Amino acid sequence: MNTFLDLAQSRRSVRAYRPAPVEPEKLRYVLEAARWAPSAKNAQPYKLVVVSDTEKRSALSVAYPKPWFRDAPHVVAVCVKPSAAYVRGHDGMNFAWVDAALAMDHLQLAAAEQGLGTCWIGAFDPAAAASALRLPDGWQVAGMTPLGYPAAESAPKPPRKPLGELLQP
Ligand SMILES: Cc1cc2nc3c(=O)[nH]c(=O)nc-3n(C[C@H](O)[C@H](O)[C@H](O)COP(=O)(O)O)c2cc1C
Repeated sequence: MNTFLDLAQSRRSVRAYRPAPVEPEKLRYVLEAARWAPSAKNAQPYKLVVVSDTEKRSALSVAYPKPWFRDAPHVVAVCVKPSAAYVRGHDGMNFAWVDAALAMDHLQLAAAEQGLGTCWIGAFDPAAAASALRLPDGWQVAGMTPLGYPAAESAPKPPRKPLGELLQP
């Protein structure tokens, strides 16, 4: 893997994990990558919650009851406080979720570079996740990902729309 494009093309959503925990220095590396993500007005309106304890992961899996999510060695939740985010004056758009997405994307790409698997989880029950993570008032879970070593070779990369389709003529 030599270029950023190689990394972007090879990163896969991983839905099977080995139980071994991630080495602390690699965990730190992917969290650092998230920390350096850009955010609107540099507000950084998020916290990263790493859940490694088996019982806590089991409690969190109530919000997304898939075995591969429950059994991954770690889950990272990107939690946002919308009242701390930049709000665009013209239309009131709150950038908390955009900022969270950038942090998650940095984390996922750094994890792929380190040979680790992730899978953005968006289809979770937000109330159940906030409760399991004991988030204070005003905080919400923007996204979660399991984190660990992939258990199996990934299926072929799902295709993307051709560039010609994405470009506005
Ligand atoms: C915002 C967002 C939410 C997603 N939510 C889920 C999810 O709840 N469950 C899941 O298995 N994958 C989820 N995914 C993963 C996508 O299905 C996956 O990124 C897409 O199919 C492309 O595959 P790739 O990541 O392997 O390139 C989500 C991805 C994004 C960006």
